Amino acid sequence: MQIINTVSDLRKAIKIWRDSGETVAFVPTMGNLHAGHLQLVSQAKEKADRVVVSIFVNPTQFGVGEDFEAYPRTELEDQQKLEDACVDLLFLPAVADIYALDALTTITVAGVSEDYCGAFRPGHFSGVATVVCKLLNIVQPNMILLGLKDFQQLTVIKMMVRDLNIPVEIIAVETVREPNGLAMSSRNGYLTEEEKKIAAQLYKTLCGARDAILAGAKDYIEVEQQALRVLQQAGFLVDYFSVCRGSDLKKAKPEDVDLVLLVAAKLGKTRLIDNIYFYK
Ligand code: PAJ
Repeated sequence: MQIINTVSDLRKAIKIWRDSGETVAFVPTMGNLHAGHLQLVSQAKEKADRVVVSIFVNPTQFGVGEDFEAYPRTELEDQQKLEDACVDLLFLPAVADIYALDALTTITVAGVSEDYCGAFRPGHFSGVATVVCKLLNIVQPNMILLGLKDFQQLTVIKMMVRDLNIPVEIIAVETVREPNGLAMSSRNGYLTEEEKKIAAQLYKTLCGARDAILAGAKDYIEVEQQALRVLQQAGFLVDYFSVCRGSDLKKAKPEDVDLVLLVAAKLGKTRLIDNIYFYK
């Protein structure tokens, strides 16, 4: 596996593949890799000739008082996991390689960035959209693999790619979960053993709400409030639990058929997000 730190070296390495007609799949990450990330990598391996993974803890998507400094950085373990997964190239830029001090341009995707996590983390999705746009321009892959785990992020990136005519195919990958249902996340490492058990309730509650809707529940406000009560009783501080339309994340109406249930909740000092996407 090649490990490359600068944009110019990366462009040179990828040009060689592109000139010989090979396809490139790209998996952007912030590192501290777990089985969820590795699922994206393994699907990338199946779909393209070459796989590029980036590890970059992107400062612009963290708000003031969030966990940018504390975010787990496990570079050596991550490198080993990517070697084992037969990744072709690891892009490991420094902040200064990605952001010039005099940069003037940022990307904001209106609408889909504004509610849910966007409302609780001002500027977060602008930071995500800007860095993903930059990484796509740097790597110029045929396809990018993104997790359904971060459903709003996936939607923001889909809209950006559509609106800016970025020539890349987006491949969405199912959420990988712990045996108890907890979605794998780098932030799960912040949880105590006791909290990890309680955290499983997040997915159980999503499943309960989905099943209620599939069984005919039409009052989505009542579905949301019931889920809220269950989570609060389990000890969560809930940011939101929303029944949304899968296509544009607007509040779902009874006649909508592609639905996503989005949840974000804090357990102790850890903020967790999860969702279920399904057809009614
Ligand atoms: P990060 O949280 O490291 O996630 C990298 C990718 O892995 C994202 O596409 C995310 O949705 C996916 N992922 C995370 N947990 C997953 C799970 N349990 N199952 C399946 N996929 C999972 O998301 C980011 O980094 C950043 O915002 C980034 C897109 C890299 C921009 O900085």
